[in-house]
Amino acid sequence: MCGIVAYSGYSKNLMTLLYHGLQKLEYRGYDSSGLAFFQNQKLQVYKESGKLKNLTLPNINAGSGVGIAHTRWATHGSANKLNAHPHISQDERIAIAHNGIVENYIPLKEELLEKGYKFQSETDSEVIVHLISSNYHGDLVKACQKAISRIQGTYGLVAISMEEPDVLIGARRGSPLVLGICPQGIHLASDVTPMLKHTQEVVYLDDGDLVRIEGDKYQILNTGFKEVNREVQYLNQKDSDAAKAGFPHYMLKEIFEQPSTIGNTMRGRLLIAEGTAKLSGLEENIRDLRELERIILVACGTSYYASMVGEYLIEDFAGIPVEVEYASEFRYRNPIITSRTAVLVLSQSGETADSLAALLEAKRKGATVLGICNTVGSSIARATDGGVYLHAGPEIGVASTKAFTAQVTVLSLFALLLGRMRRVSNSVGSRLATMLSSLPIKVEEALLQKDSVFAIAEKYKDSKNFLYIGRNVNYPVALEGALKLKEISYIHAEGYAAAELKHGPIALLDENMPVIVIASKDDLHEKLLSNVKEIKARGAKVISILPQGEVEIARESDDVIYVPEVHPAFSALVNIIPLQLFAYQMAVLNDRDVDQPRNLAKSVTVE
Ligand code: M6R
Repeated sequence: MCGIVAYSGYSKNLMTLLYHGLQKLEYRGYDSSGLAFFQNQKLQVYKESGKLKNLTLPNINAGSGVGIAHTRWATHGSANKLNAHPHISQDERIAIAHNGIVENYIPLKEELLEKGYKFQSETDSEVIVHLISSNYHGDLVKACQKAISRIQGTYGLVAISMEEPDVLIGARRGSPLVLGICPQGIHLASDVTPMLKHTQEVVYLDDGDLVRIEGDKYQILNTGFKEVNREVQYLNQKDSDAAKAGFPHYMLKEIFEQPSTIGNTMRGRLLIAEGTAKLSGLEENIRDLRELERIILVACGTSYYASMVGEYLIEDFAGIPVEVEYASEFRYRNPIITSRTAVLVLSQSGETADSLAALLEAKRKGATVLGICNTVGSSIARATDGGVYLHAGPEIGVASTKAFTAQVTVLSLFALLLGRMRRVSNSVGSRLATMLSSLPIKVEEALLQKDSVFAIAEKYKDSKNFLYIGRNVNYPVALEGALKLKEISYIHAEGYAAAELKHGPIALLDENMPVIVIASKDDLHEKLLSNVKEIKARGAKVISILPQGEVEIARESDDVIYVPEVHPAFSALVNIIPLQLFAYQMAVLNDRDVDQPRNLAKSVTVE
């Protein structure tokens, strides 16, 4: 949520470099943007409201040196030019860009107003630049340290000062910052995407760290102001991983990547002969896993729905009681955690504020805390006792697609691993592992339905409401399908466990309320068929996602999409594909901004 890009060094055109960095980070927030650097002994600041393309820059070569840039997702104050970052000090000599929330900004602002500081914006962030300015006596490091010691809340912060025109300061608490090390200079950003083109060598700052950068040299100080070394990590990620590769939108590209991302998630982790899975990141926790009495899966949004699929799988394969909790609720409850409870936090970005806070709360209560994340080196990944990476590659579209299927894949592997430690035999485990290994091909086949799905979207493009229903693992698929539709097409949609319709939502049914039915060939098939008949009897249109060869629900349906038949436990992975494609095409047909839907941002780093 909000993206910071900054640079210090000898690269030829600083302004272009910052702008290109913002282009890579725009998915984190796109309400307004801006950048600042020094030229001719003056602080130059350019800001604009709306998308980055609105930010017009002068036709100058900004040369080299230090510069900061920001793309915003508004929290305090509307998305206008005045509230856009960078914010500058009254004497126009210091500029900052900030991610996060200054929770005590009201008393700080009152104090600064009393001292005569004037505010230009409605943001909480502006107090930071005035705090730095009021503590500035020729040393930006000291001024920043004093300013952040007054802040309650979270920050990813960058600052520059005219008095020290070669110095760039970065600091983080609860909002990520990563350094990219190049021979020509140092990049500093909210994540690695803006620097992939320039370097693979990165250093992740820890919470409480402050970095002073001058030219191509940097020095990191911890909360106790002591110089510390942070490990330089090698990324092995291509810049092209984060490009559209000929697709009109990132979302469509990411939907079509799923056969390979699911394959990458499973690579080297399935032991077919032994009928189990090997998750290296959990090896140190194997003893704890054997003795587990309870698992709590904690997540938000799509990651929460993937967790719900995991709940069915783990209980079914391993017989361990599982609860799934919204991170935002878990963090403020008083959860009952014993030494045999594992808390598993799922997050694509690894930066979701609620999930991170829930993780820390579980740790304080003594749980074994594990993580399933996509973003390598993210805050959640680094705070867990052990964990598993998705290896799905960068997900740029705000609507999560390939991360969902990768999360379900990891949870399937995890359930198999736990199952084999308990009640699954070698032969059953082997059969399940073989089925898992065939999933990339099955997903590829499901993607072949694109044209049929798009034709159905054309037919229903003017519908204002949808219901999605499923049972067992397809209940969370219904929830996830409905979330996809509402977040990118702004069409109202709700997901339900199919049998719940008759307890209330059935009152909504008429010819204007299409119902999307998600089925697999499982024991509940007959029950689902009865639910569909109840829907038809109320005059609603039925669109069904069915395993190849199914005829009974098909007979009751107005439109049918067939997907390959797979083991019912793994059906979420193929059934979600047409729902992703449907949401995508409904958004396109309704002329929506698919990759950057209104009011949203990719990683939600505020509460
Ligand atoms: O990065 P995370 O997985 O922690 O993000 C959680 C949610 O914010 C995220 O899944 C959100 O719901 C997506 N936009 C859904 O497509």
